[in-house]
Amino acid sequence: MKLSDSRIIITGGSSGIGYATAKYLVEKGAKVLITGRDKEKLEKAANETGAVAVVADVAKEEDIEYTFQQVKEKLGGLDVLINNAGIGRRKSLDELSLQDFEEIFRVNVYGAALMAKNAAQIFKEQNYGHIINIASTAAKKGYANGTVYSSSKFALRGMTECWQAELRPHNVRVMLVNPSEVTTAFGQPDRKERPEQANKLRSEEIAHTIVAALEMDDRGFIPEVTVFATNPFKN
Ligand SMILES: NC(=O)c1ccc[n+]([C@@H]2O[C@H](COP(=O)([O-])OP(=O)(O)OC[C@H]3O[C@@H](n4cnc5c(N)ncnc54)[C@H](OP(=O)(O)O)[C@@H]3O)[C@@H](O)[C@H]2O)c1
Repeated sequence: MKLSDSRIIITGGSSGIGYATAKYLVEKGAKVLITGRDKEKLEKAANETGAVAVVADVAKEEDIEYTFQQVKEKLGGLDVLINNAGIGRRKSLDELSLQDFEEIFRVNVYGAALMAKNAAQIFKEQNYGHIINIASTAAKKGYANGTVYSSSKFALRGMTECWQAELRPHNVRVMLVNPSEVTTAFGQPDRKERPEQANKLRSEEIAHTIVAALEMDDRGFIPEVTVFATNPFKN
């Protein structure tokens, strides 16, 4: 697709992968709308990246409705949805509660699905559109204390395959990106971005992957891409 003048929503665009992707897409000439819950952080990110800020929580249906009203008003339409907002939690099986599942799934699974539902309505009508879901290597392999997070990303991966089957006949490309560890604020107790490390990915590698997948001519699409650090053993 041609990115210049395209209209794109990124959920969770105020830090990390969403921020880096917004910055890169704006540089490519796209009109980008970013969402997030923390107004101050989101507005700072919008000023720095050139995106439009819409304070919205993907865990709330009314905020999703509001996001799509804002898309109409501020972007004048939609070509791409990037379901990036996500949260994690590490807990052993014996510590888990129903509330843990509800809180994580509400963002990583239900939020992503309802965003996609609204986007798909627009995309089917225009017979064109793109959805990128940001899952994780945890969507492909479980690990100790990963029950809630890993199962939420397995669910996102499963939904991606369902949406591919439903939306390909409408010329809509649905793609999954699985980053391995990226040095963002993700999972940090103080919510602070981690310093770069030579043996780990930066948000820029994931932004690059997303932009490359979108820029491919629309006759083709990448169903799923996993991004690893080249040499995780490096000091
Ligand atoms: N970092 C990694 O190692 C890694 C690896 C694999 C996959 N991922 C995935 O990559 C995605 C982005 O994570 P990141 O590493 O960039 O983390 P991050 O820096 O913590 O960014 C998360 C973004 O999502 C927003 N967000 C969180 N909950 C939200 C909600 N309910 N509604 C709207 N926005 C919300 C945050 O802003 P507010 O808190 O202000 O809402 C922030 O802008 C996530 O889906 C994560 O699972 C990350």
